[in-house]
Amino acid sequence: AEINNPSKMYPIAINLMMSIVAYLVTVRIIPNIKEKFIKANLFGIDMSKTTSDKVPESLGVVTGCVFLMTMFLFIPIPFGHSLFNGSFPHDEFVEMIAALLSICCMLLLGFADDVLDLRWRHKLLLPTVASLPLLMVYYVNFNSTTIVVPKPFRELLGLSIDIGFLYYVYMGMLAVFCTNAINILAGVNGLEAGQSVVIALSIIIFNVVELSGKLWKAHQFSLYFMLPYTATTLALLKHNWYPSKVFVGDTFCYFSGMTFAVVGILGHFSKTTLLFFIPQVLNFLYSSPQLFKLVPCPRHRLPKFNSKTDRMEISTTVFRYSELGVLGKISISLFKLFRLVRWQEKGGYVYTNNLTLINLVLYYLGPMHEAKLTSVLIGIQIFFTCLAFVIRYPLASIFYEV
Ligand code: UD1
Ligand code: MG
Repeated sequence: AEINNPSKMYPIAINLMMSIVAYLVTVRIIPNIKEKFIKANLFGIDMSKTTSDKVPESLGVVTGCVFLMTMFLFIPIPFGHSLFNGSFPHDEFVEMIAALLSICCMLLLGFADDVLDLRWRHKLLLPTVASLPLLMVYYVNFNSTTIVVPKPFRELLGLSIDIGFLYYVYMGMLAVFCTNAINILAGVNGLEAGQSVVIALSIIIFNVVELSGKLWKAHQFSLYFMLPYTATTLALLKHNWYPSKVFVGDTFCYFSGMTFAVVGILGHFSKTTLLFFIPQVLNFLYSSPQLFKLVPCPRHRLPKFNSKTDRMEISTTVFRYSELGVLGKISISLFKLFRLVRWQEKGGYVYTNNLTLINLVLYYLGPMHEAKLTSVLIGIQIFFTCLAFVIRYPLASIFYEV
């Protein structure tokens, strides 16, 4: 009977139809607008092709704008009727506006990064600042900073603990993580947009399942964002898939990460959102020696294209072991011990693969064609989504009442 509740399904159905239109619009805009990007000097060279044509970059700004416009046009649907019956839900409205403000802000900052090539510290600072409107609304509307203690620890800590301010630090860090995590699992055609589609679809499935639960409002809220996001991203993926006609740019990665963080935080399922980021978490941990400069990190870590075989191969970084710091030595030796890096020594220098999940896959499976490499990596993303659902449902009941 709950499913028949018109205020539950009706806005979602309208949102779905608007998303389909958004897809059709985006798919047509991208090829028409790409020349303008090249004219504006927004292009990159595809490093894994024999030609060196200019590929328009930062097309994420187009999908981001279509997404925002779809959302703006959609706002009257869930809120329209309550304008006239005197029970306008100001708190829900403010939540949606703040969510859009944070996403919009991140889109702008991402675009600034593409145009101006910002430094590393900005990449950490910008999403933190962009998430402030969101945290503000969270503070006003919920300010629930208690976390439920997993069953095994309850003897010790009680049913729940209030972590207060730390909860806001956690949410800010989630925004920083989500925005950068997609950007550093990148470099082969279709991967940024492809992994984002898988994450978005995972969140959609989760929301649909939870729509029949008692927290359905939060999941309905998330679907409002995820459906147009998925639609516009699919349109982008169509043009970004091998061989890429356009690149998504950091604009897209930031915009995507923020959108996922927003729905996770305001939908109260940030832990589940993180579960859909397992490959990105693994890639981040594996990358950390290079990200924190313990091991030399070249500007580009994407795999190396072999034009003779038309396959992608491991890309490498080179250093003298003795010149690494203590932490660098420990981390790279651990990777070597567990056979997580390809290790070659030549003339006193060590050559290892760049520490990315992409290179790790190439190390284990051998060189492969770029399109196949993207497919394998997206397959891995799908596998971990399945695992995430196993952790979220059957396994979580051991630790929480779900
Ligand atoms: C991140 C990665 C970097 C990787 C790059 C590729 C870290 C710390 N940074 O940097 O290692 O090389 O993404 O996107 O992990 N490109 C291709 N084929 C693609 C996608 C991109 O050749 O399918 C190249 C193009 O030249 C494009 C450029 O990568 O212009 C975009 O790189 P950019 O997004 O600016 O790199 P970062 O995000 O800074
Ligand atoms: Mg990038």
